Amino acid sequence: MSNDLTAASLKRLEKVSMGNDLRIQQGVTRGQPFQIQVNGAPVTAYPGETIAAVLLASGWQMFRHSALSGEPRGPFCGMGLCFDCLVTVNGQPNVRACVTFAQPGDLVERQI
Ligand code: FES
Repeated sequence: MSNDLTAASLKRLEKVSMGNDLRIQQGVTRGQPFQIQVNGAPVTAYPGETIAAVLLASGWQMFRHSALSGEPRGPFCGMGLCFDCLVTVNGQPNVRACVTFAQPGDLVERQI
């Protein structure tokens, strides 16, 4: 599969799921929701969610592009080891979204 096909496929997937809340709803109690900004768009987050969880639940799947190959990247390990989830948070680049809790008012930029 070519890099372009992979990127195009992911963009199509994002288009389908953007704006939907992909969180499990039934039987789950969450704290008071708050807003963060992702590439300038308001996104709802809940206490205890990592930035990666917030982005994925909101339909964002591409977090960055590989510096070497240009391929799209998103969370892979989910535990701080692979660095595929790097985003810019409040102006700080290369933050691992999977091990960083979302805070009210965070300004998140995908590194794409
Ligand atoms: S998903 Fe691997 S470091 Fe975040």
